[in-house]
Amino acid sequence: MALAEFLKQLDALVAAATAAFDGAADEASLEAARIEYLGAKKGRLKAVQKFMGAVGAADRPAAGKRLNEVKTQIETAFTAAQGRLGAVENPRRTGEVTAFDPTLPGRSLRLGRLHPITQTIEELKGIMGRLGFSVAEGPEIEDEWHNFEALNIPLEHPARDPLDNFYLAVAGAAAGTLLLRSQTSTVQIRVMEQGPPPVRIITLGRVYRPDTADATHYPMFHQMEGLLVDRQVTMADLKSVLRLFAASFLGSDVHIRFRPSFFPFTEPSVEADFQWHDQWIEFGGAGMVDPNVLQMVGYDPEQVTGFAFGLGIERLCMRRHNITDIRALYRNDVRFLRQF
Ligand code: DAH
Repeated sequence: MALAEFLKQLDALVAAATAAFDGAADEASLEAARIEYLGAKKGRLKAVQKFMGAVGAADRPAAGKRLNEVKTQIETAFTAAQGRLGAVENPRRTGEVTAFDPTLPGRSLRLGRLHPITQTIEELKGIMGRLGFSVAEGPEIEDEWHNFEALNIPLEHPARDPLDNFYLAVAGAAAGTLLLRSQTSTVQIRVMEQGPPPVRIITLGRVYRPDTADATHYPMFHQMEGLLVDRQVTMADLKSVLRLFAASFLGSDVHIRFRPSFFPFTEPSVEADFQWHDQWIEFGGAGMVDPNVLQMVGYDPEQVTGFAFGLGIERLCMRRHNITDIRALYRNDVRFLRQF
């Protein structure tokens, strides 16, 4: 075949293909035109291409060059038509596959979960709620009155050492010295300041101490504080409440014991230990609210008495789940947290 004849056929092909693609009114006719012109086996471009071999050897480079141009032109015309019909958005729609297959399984959402400490807090609220304690809250940034003074902790007491507390340097603070609370006992004062007895509350929240983190220490941890003030409250009530609490949380086989201790805001003071699985575990401090504290908030110690306790929540949570390193709770590794 002469080169001129071959080129003429290519020109005719470009014209026809472009017209067909441009004229396609919907995706079906575009697809039909694609098969007619660009079809891999019986397409008309393929058919013309076969004549290449018949072109004289000297003319073949020119014929090949033009063939490539034509191919690009036809493909460009097709892509343009596809874009015009909006089919390009979803290439699958040009084939037999439909865009939406209602028989495919849905994508399941990955559910998160509550942090083990949050779970423990919710459970503690439930147990203490059934014993008649309502939940009170207080700020994590405290003044020295609520964290120390009103709790009978005088200025010279070692608990107020700057090395044992996160004091905050707030420029020109009118409120006086502020610190991150080192205990939830602050909330005892806040609640009693707000209203007269009787009082029956728990408070659960974060406390802060500049301890170096190790398996059993962390500079931030959680406490549950309890306070009950009423007429004729005795140490027997304290022991009963803590025993009921321990039995609800750990099981009825738990034992409880008090060891004499000292806290400035209770008199007498005790350390409360729970025995569980043949082991005695120290769970926190407790005692009868010191008359000085009652006086400080305007209560009459001749009329009312009360008990208070403060327990470490991490310890309860770790014991329950056999967690041996407190740092694991705060590393935010979901592979660990997912287990609870
Ligand atoms: N606030 C104490 C602490 O952080 C714990 C405590 C002891 C709380 C005795 C109390 C209590 O309410 O009566 O170490």
